[in-house]
Amino acid sequence: MSVWKRKTITQLLTETAVPGQGLKRTLTAWSLVALGIGAVIGSGIFVSTATAVAQSAGSSVTIGFIIAAIGCALAGLCYAELSSSIPISGSAYTYTYATMGELAAWIIGWDLILEYAVGAATVGISWSEYLNNLLVNVLHVNPVPYALSHSPFQVSAGGEQGIINLPALFIVGVISLLLIRGTKESALLNGLIVIVKVTIVLLIIILGWGFINPANHTPYIPPPAMFTDGHGVTHHFGGMMGILGAAGTVFFAFIGFDAVSTAAQETINPQKNMPIGILGTLAICTVLYILFAHVLTGIATVDDFRNGGKEASVAFAITRYMAGYGWLAKFVTVAILAGFSSVILVMLLGQSRVFYAMGTDGLLPRMFGELHPKFRTPYKANMIILVIVGLFAAFVPGSVVGDMTSIGTLFAFVLVCIAVIILRKTTPGLPRAFRTPWVPVVPVLGVLVCCAMMYGLGWTNWLRLGTWLLIGLAIYFLYGRKHSRINHPEP
Ligand code: ALA
Repeated sequence: MSVWKRKTITQLLTETAVPGQGLKRTLTAWSLVALGIGAVIGSGIFVSTATAVAQSAGSSVTIGFIIAAIGCALAGLCYAELSSSIPISGSAYTYTYATMGELAAWIIGWDLILEYAVGAATVGISWSEYLNNLLVNVLHVNPVPYALSHSPFQVSAGGEQGIINLPALFIVGVISLLLIRGTKESALLNGLIVIVKVTIVLLIIILGWGFINPANHTPYIPPPAMFTDGHGVTHHFGGMMGILGAAGTVFFAFIGFDAVSTAAQETINPQKNMPIGILGTLAICTVLYILFAHVLTGIATVDDFRNGGKEASVAFAITRYMAGYGWLAKFVTVAILAGFSSVILVMLLGQSRVFYAMGTDGLLPRMFGELHPKFRTPYKANMIILVIVGLFAAFVPGSVVGDMTSIGTLFAFVLVCIAVIILRKTTPGLPRAFRTPWVPVVPVLGVLVCCAMMYGLGWTNWLRLGTWLLIGLAIYFLYGRKHSRINHPEP
């Protein structure tokens, strides 16, 4: 029973080639880009931008976006090669199984739970906050009471104790049920939401451009200083350190483009369409983000982001500075709610496909790999994920889960970059519809930039990642190693 045993690529590809048995192939290049944008544009752009402006970089947050985009593009080029040569459900987990063996695959599969399941819970919690924003500011009715929309670890400024976050649990439940119904239906809904999200970002860029006050962009990079936030934590503000801090914060806004690769097995002609899906998503989002951040920081002052708007800064900036555009502020709130829903959808989709792959491999109980007889979706995996994500969403505060999502994702990116180098050495003859340029330079730079961002997230997060991985190792040695199909082939 070797923990280093690898799956051969032929084994991987033939396992999924039985006609009429696997997942349905319904996704085109455009549906992949829509899936990508669905996962990417969410609380990162609408909430983290304001945080990064306020505590790290002022208007130079745009440069932070560029740095985060470079890290993602380097990793994205590696994802594109692997997903076009190993177009199988499971994404980074599957690539690692083929390149670094079972133990590494388990570690990455376990780590991806941080990105997808914990990420979905994080956005579910933001959804709950914005729901109350909608109820109060747009519909002018009472919000969901504090106790029923916050975790038991939260207490309001007025001393009210949270009990359970019901709206977060609700949205996670609804979307899980939709996913069980089928990928095609979910992709259709996602497509509609993507149109709304992109429209809102474009409207803010185009209509807001005329309201840019050059004074808010002067100096574009604020001089270095220290800033202490409301929780007493001190941040480097301005200068290069401020920009790096902003890059770490807005990295969250890019998370999700890699989720496209988890749907490889449901993609028509994945060799061609996967790279378009991954790199196309990244390119579109990067351009939108930089323009959006440039406009937003031009409309409002850094003080507005620190004191006035907080997480609803976008609506705040519009209401305060763009006279006559009150409707846009309301539309933003509705669009953000819809936008968060599609992020949750793609995250949950990604998680279920990773669990599906791990279940079929025997690293998790086999039921994770069972498909619904009619819908041909891994419905049991979806139900179990609903329970796990639901527990996080209902009972854990958003601040705890957000950074864990980022560090888990960066760790996955690092392993994917390494996998490209290894696979080029071990399987040079593999047909690669898309080849990462300048190997090993691009993957090595990818590792360095992602490690720099991990470093920037601070030691509390390294500790959380380490603890999470140790729990995963214990489960592997107690269960996965003894049940894995590769170590115990069926007769
Ligand atoms: N990128 C996703 C978001 O911004 C996770 O919500």
